[in-house]
Amino acid sequence: MKVCILGSGRGSNCQAILEASINQQLGLAKIVGIFSDVQESGILQVAESYGIENHFLEPGSLKAKIDKKNEPMWIKSLRGHNPDLIVLAGFMRIVSSSLIRAFDGRIINIHPSILPSFKGLHAIQQAWDHKVKISGCTVHWVSEGIDSGQIIAQAPVRIMNGDSLSKLTQKIQAAEHMLLPWVISDLSTGAIPFIQ
Ligand code: GRF
Repeated sequence: MKVCILGSGRGSNCQAILEASINQQLGLAKIVGIFSDVQESGILQVAESYGIENHFLEPGSLKAKIDKKNEPMWIKSLRGHNPDLIVLAGFMRIVSSSLIRAFDGRIINIHPSILPSFKGLHAIQQAWDHKVKISGCTVHWVSEGIDSGQIIAQAPVRIMNGDSLSKLTQKIQAAEHMLLPWVISDLSTGAIPFIQ
């Protein structure tokens, strides 16, 4: 199963996936390309240090999504790797319908809350502000609504007395680093089915 990863930030989820791959914990999945909309992002450095093909792709002038002019180039670059699965690992732009249609039923995202609670940006802060006692992370299929595609798997995290927002962030990220490689592995072996 050929996998492309898209991200905008630090790349810690990407690193967890690559480590799982090295440790033979990624089933039949092979990471074939890593892409970012941010030239100086950690995720591209992670990709480089693991020797995986990686590219910065120009997102254009819009802040929240890839602009219409650049979208075909993103689709073409991804298609060039013929991915069976595209993993959004901290990709901070809304994925447009044409990109979703080009890879229909093959895009997953990791989100740092127990969906459907706390969609969108700053999910950990939102959970913290609501004083919830359990949060966590969700891997879901990407559909046109934001963070609203079908849920694949979730990992809970308890918020204990004395935890801070940064402690909660660390705990949720640690949960993400376990959940995402596990889901990719199970998709590759068929233990988790593709939806459509
Ligand atoms: C993760 O917490 C993910 O859930 C969110 O962005 C963060 C990305 O972190 N969407 P990293 O780039 O994988 O370190």
